[in-house]
Amino acid sequence: MTETQEQAMFSLIRRAGAVILEASSRLAESDVTSKEGSANYVTVYDVQVQRMLVTGIEEIFPGCSFLAEEEGADQNTLGDGWTFVIDPIDGTANFIRDYHRSAISVGALYQGELAWGAVYNPYTDEMFHGRKGCGAYLNGKPISVSKRSMGDAIIVMGTSPYYRTELGERTMEITKALFMQCDDIRRSGSAALDLCDVASGRMDAFFELRLSPWDFMAGCLLIQEAGGWITTVSGEVLPTDGRKSSVAAGGPVLREDFLAVLENGGKYAI
Ligand code: IPD
Repeated sequence: MTETQEQAMFSLIRRAGAVILEASSRLAESDVTSKEGSANYVTVYDVQVQRMLVTGIEEIFPGCSFLAEEEGADQNTLGDGWTFVIDPIDGTANFIRDYHRSAISVGALYQGELAWGAVYNPYTDEMFHGRKGCGAYLNGKPISVSKRSMGDAIIVMGTSPYYRTELGERTMEITKALFMQCDDIRRSGSAALDLCDVASGRMDAFFELRLSPWDFMAGCLLIQEAGGWITTVSGEVLPTDGRKSSVAAGGPVLREDFLAVLENGGKYAI
């Protein structure tokens, strides 16, 4: 990705963020519909922002492919060149409630390898971004993961709300086990932003038993570039081929202790 292309991506994502901000306070009930799974919603703005991003990215990277959360998700393909993995509004439930904790997440694969990522929180005007081998940044300033140990850690986690029948009990068991060993627990409702919080050292570790690729792809690049680790909850490499996966991430110091607690839960997750 050239410097010009990257700047064009930032400007497109910021423009899409303005749509979220503008829509946030005037969302009507009729703008919201349900998707598969429990408590899984989509709004007219998820669709609008995705269309805006797809159209804009096609202009910057002609011929690229997409893996995107909303409409046409079943037609997603991984291309030979650039593939953009898009969540137009990560934290849709927060957006519906005007809770100000939602983000645009765009990860980019080049020839199948994770190469670039950006997560933009329009409410705070924070753009987390990174390029393979070049570090991770927040609004242009370098960021890095924390060096805290388990005992001092604040762990942010996701509940996999759409799969609660299958994964809810295990999620809570792991959370309780972690809570007894760390400083405290958080749950924010946007996995993409949770991963950025770990990448920037605001939070010390993260786990969720099932996420979609658009929830974690950009965050994965950011954590790796910020000096952290990110794997499945069983410590395996995350898939970059569009599959759903469990996700665990953190700073280097607590890795062993954190994964030891998750190990038991790992076998229940895909
Ligand atoms: C959701 C959020 C949430 C996580 C869910 C995700 P969405 O994304 O990231 O924090 O717990 O698993 O699906 O549906 O709001 O784009």
